[in-house]
Amino acid sequence: MDTSFDLKSLRERVQRWKSAGLTVALVPTMGNLHEGHISLLSRAREIADRTVVSIFVNPIQFGKGEDYENYPSTLDDDLNKLERAGLDLLFAPNLSELYPAGTEEDTRVTVPALSDILCGEYRPGHFSGVATVVIKLLTNVQPDYALFGEKDYQQVQVIRRMVRDLLVPTEIVAMPIIREADGLAMSSRNSYLDSEQRDTAALIFQTLTAAAALVREQSRALADIEAEATRTLAAAGMRPEYFSVRRQDDLLPAGAGDQNLIVLVAAWLGSARLIDNIRVDLDRPIKD
Ligand code: PAF
Repeated sequence: MDTSFDLKSLRERVQRWKSAGLTVALVPTMGNLHEGHISLLSRAREIADRTVVSIFVNPIQFGKGEDYENYPSTLDDDLNKLERAGLDLLFAPNLSELYPAGTEEDTRVTVPALSDILCGEYRPGHFSGVATVVIKLLTNVQPDYALFGEKDYQQVQVIRRMVRDLLVPTEIVAMPIIREADGLAMSSRNSYLDSEQRDTAALIFQTLTAAAALVREQSRALADIEAEATRTLAAAGMRPEYFSVRRQDDLLPAGAGDQNLIVLVAAWLGSARLIDNIRVDLDRPIKD
C-alpha cells in the first residue's frame, strides 16, 4: 500500500493509473475505520482497478462545541486494516494542503434546501463542510467512482445532488449500513458510549424497525408513528432530535401519493449523536 500526504504526489499516482487505462474508486473517510468502511473498500475493489482511501478529519463540517477536537483517531490500526483489505493508495493530507486559504476564508460549496433539513437543521453548516471537502477530493482524485455509506443517507443525497449540479463525472455509489449483532449501525461515534449506553443504543434500530413495519401497514398516521417512536427513545434516556418519515429522493416529509420512503432518526445518547435509517418501499402509494 502506497501513501500520499500531498496533492502533487496524489495527482501523479492517479494520473499514472489513468494513463494506463485503469479505473479508480475513491473512499473518503475521517479514519477510525470500522467494518462499514471496509465494506466500502471491498466494493471499491470489485468495481474499479485501483482504490484510493482518504483519511482526513474535516474541521469545517464540525460545528462549534462539536467533537472535532476529540474525534477518535486510530491511525496505526487504520493502516493495518487498509493494508489487510488490499488498498492501493492512502491519501492523508494535512489541513493546510486542503485549506490553503485557511478554514475561515475558504470557498464553500452549498447544496441548497437539502442541506438545511433533518441533520442540517441541528448542525448548521455541516453539509456545506462535507460538500466542500468532498468536491476537493473529487477534483484532485478524479475517480470514476466514489463510495459512501448509507448510514449517512442525507450526506449521500447532498453529495449526489452536488455531483449532478456541478457536472462532476464521478459515479456516486451508496452502500448498505453495516450493523452490530444487536442492530446498532456501526459508527466511529459508538466509541463514545459506555457499556450501559451501548446496550440502550440497540433500541434505535428496534424502534426504527417497529416504525418501518407500521409505515408499511399503512394503518396509522405517519405523525403518530413518529411521535410514538420519539417517546420510546426519550423514555430510554435518549434525546431525539428527529424521528421522521421522508421521501427517499428529496427527503421531504412523506405524504399522499408517495411510495418510496425512508424513516430517519438522530438522537443523542450521552455524548454520542447517533443517526440511523431504514428504507420502506410501499406496495401501494400512501392514500389521501
Ligand atoms: O462520512 C464521512 O466520514 C465524512 O463526512 C466524509 C464524507 C469523509 C467527508 O469528510
